[in-house]
Order: sequence, then structure tokens, then C-alpha cells
Amino acid sequence: MDLSHHMRPGTLQLAALPPLSLYVHLPWCLRKCPYCDFNSHEVRGEAADALPQQRYLDALMADLEASLPLVWGRSVHSVFIGGGTPSLFSPEAIDHLLSGLRARLPLVADCEITLEANPGTFEKDRFKAFRAAGVTRLSVGVQSFNDAHLRSLGRVHDRAQALAAVEEAALAFDTFNLDLMYALPGQTLDQLDEDVRTALALAPPHLSIYHLTIEPNTVFAKYPPAVPEDDAAYAMLDRLTERTAQAGLQRYEVSAYARPGHRCWHNLNYWQFGDYLGLGAGAHSKLSFAHRVVRQVRWREPAGYMTQALAGQPVAQAHEVARADLPFEYLLNALRLRDGFALQDFSARTGLPVSAIESGLAQAERQGLIERSLTQVRPTERGFDFLSDLQALFLPG
Ligand SMILES: C[S@@+](CC[C@H](N)C(=O)[O-])C[C@H]1O[C@@H](n2cnc3c(N)ncnc32)[C@H](O)[C@@H]1O
Ligand code: SF4
Repeated sequence: MDLSHHMRPGTLQLAALPPLSLYVHLPWCLRKCPYCDFNSHEVRGEAADALPQQRYLDALMADLEASLPLVWGRSVHSVFIGGGTPSLFSPEAIDHLLSGLRARLPLVADCEITLEANPGTFEKDRFKAFRAAGVTRLSVGVQSFNDAHLRSLGRVHDRAQALAAVEEAALAFDTFNLDLMYALPGQTLDQLDEDVRTALALAPPHLSIYHLTIEPNTVFAKYPPAVPEDDAAYAMLDRLTERTAQAGLQRYEVSAYARPGHRCWHNLNYWQFGDYLGLGAGAHSKLSFAHRVVRQVRWREPAGYMTQALAGQPVAQAHEVARADLPFEYLLNALRLRDGFALQDFSARTGLPVSAIESGLAQAERQGLIERSLTQVRPTERGFDFLSDLQALFLPG
């Protein structure tokens, strides 16, 4: 769809466009994990020669060039290279990718550039080279330090590799993130505690801790493992919150914990309903214009995506977010943040007056789910615990 279509008049009034981030999806993994519903595909054959790195990079550049008119004149504040397993790409390929992005779009001077890495040995040996290529922040997918749990999750790495990878990340990067999951098959509270103690002993500046969810169309959905009951999972979350706080990490979003100064700017931009251009197979974009907000999804299968992107047609679907859906979409994100949001930001990001959410806010306040001042709205402890109930108050009628 051409630019004039997005620029035509509409009922929303966005006074200014939000900050822009770039997401780049690299869709391959050594092995597909049984719980994973991300757009990731097993590499067939030996990783090094089986990955069509050059063709994929060419497709990403063609994708970006086709997309440039939609973000013309805007600077990029963060880049997130996610997957899949981006660390399967060589440091040279990541270097080319970043140069290609910089040649086509202005990146701000302190642009945060994150790369997701798995803790395998050959990947760990590349961390310094990723840093040299311009990556500023590594996100290491540890999941657990317990060998039995790593096996039940179908992970390729073990505890020793996870420890070595995090130590190397700490040496190579000024800031990094460690991903953990909890409520794992057969996990006890003590085992979770042990995982968290091990993680915290490595002094990560940022932790992301996700409740393992059984996603449809995964191996775990077909053969469900025995996971802890809800009460046990809540007890685990309480323990996580307590331990991370003792270690000086603040829970600033439902699943994200950071030392001061180490929040993930890229993810914050998502939660604050900023804009992002998603390049690569299956990547999602959210882009604002003066009178509308547009979402896009790119072709999902890597082979099909490359063909389409190289032909200048990377986008499989695009739609304008309906005016009636914007309040819910905004609050679905912003209420995940411990500090909530400024009312003025709601208007700036959605182009709607604050009156569009007044009745939902009043009801949430009556139910003790939010607290607010004249300018700010923030979920209460209870609102944070019952987040989906709180968010549901803003569903379109
Ligand atoms: C898309 S993965 C990419 C990172 C890397 N490939 C890895 O798996 O280590 C990002 C993170 O999502 C989380 N994740 C993936 N599937 C999940 C699930 N079913 N439930 C909860 N968290 C999940 C994991 O913590 C993972 O590190
Ligand atoms: S390594 Fe990460 S992205 Fe790949 S299948 Fe496993 S969880 Fe999904």
C-alpha cells in the first residue's frame, strides 16, 4: 500500500509521532523446542552452511527499502535482533546487517542494539565479536540452570554451558539480559529458588522471567507435561519478586526486572505503544501516521518471505487499527508497566481524547485495580496481580 493511502485524512489526531524502533527477525534454530510457538524453523544440515545467510540479508535489505517511505525522516532509537536464534548468524553477517541498516536509516547516537543469543558453546565464543559488530546488549536465553529441566524443555544446552555463556556475556557487554522460565514440568519451589539464586549470583543487570505457557500448536500442547498448579506457580512468582528485589532489581514490567539504568529501552517502547518496523520472516510492525495507526505482518515461511521480499513485496497483511480498538490496544501494553502511564501519553499515542477511557478508568478505580492522579494512571498491587481482568475493562463494547 502506498504512502498517500496512509497519509489520507482520518478521525484520529496524532500531534507527533512516537519514537521508532526496528525489530529484525532471524527465524532459524538448531532444534525446535517443544513449548515454542515463535516463528522459528529447524536448520537442516550443518548450521554453518545450511543457513542462507547472504540471501536472507539481501531479503532484509530489500524489505527495508520497500518500507522506507513509511518511516521517512524518522530516526531509530533501538534495534532488536530476535528469533529464532540470531546467534546462529556469524558476527560478520550481523556486522553487515547493522551496516546495511545504518546506511538506509539514521540510528540515534546512543541507539540500543540487542541481539538474542542461545547459550551454546560455539555461540558464546562469538559474543565479543557481536559486541565489535555494534551490538550493545545481549539477551541470553538460559531458561533454567537445572540439567533435568533443560532436558525436559528440549534445550540443546546444559547448566555448565549456561553458566559459561552468562559469564562471557558479562565480560563482553556493559549490559545484558538473562531469560528464565518458571513453572517448568515437575519444578518445585526449591528448584525455582535454586535457579533464581544461581541467576542472581551472576549479577545480571536485567532479568526476564516468564511463566511457561502451553501454547497451541506446539509439541507440549499435543503431549502436555505435568506443570505446577496455579497456587504453586503464584508462590514461585512471589519468591521471584522477593529474591530479585533483595538483589536490587526492580520489577518494572510483569516479566521484566532491572537494575537502575538497565531497563530494556526497546521493550519499553513496545509497552509505551511506541512504533516499530519489523523486518524479516513473520515480523510484526506498528506504525503511526498523523491520522491512523497501521499494523503489518510479513510472510511467515522463511523461503516464501525471501522470495517476496526480494521482489519488493515483504508484507503479507496490513490493516489500520480501528478507532474503537485503540484504547484496549494501548492499555494492554501500558498497564503491564509498574509505573503505568501518563494520560497525556495515551492521547499522544492513540490520537484519542482521554474521555475515551474515562468510564473504564472509573470502574477500575472502584475495583481497586488502579490508582491515579490528575496526570498519571498506575496499576495497584491488586491490579498487577489481576492484570487480565483490569485490561478486560477496556475491551471495545
Ligand atoms: C523467542 S525466544 C528467543 C530466544 C532464544 N532463542 C531462546 O530460546 O533462548 C524468547 C524467550 O521467550 C521465552 N519463551 C518462549 N516460549 C515460551 C513459552 N511457551 N512460555 C514462556 N516463555 C516462553 C523464553 O524465555 C525465550 O528465551
Ligand atoms: S531456541 Fe528459542 S526460538 Fe528457538 S525453538 Fe527454542 S525457544 Fe523457540
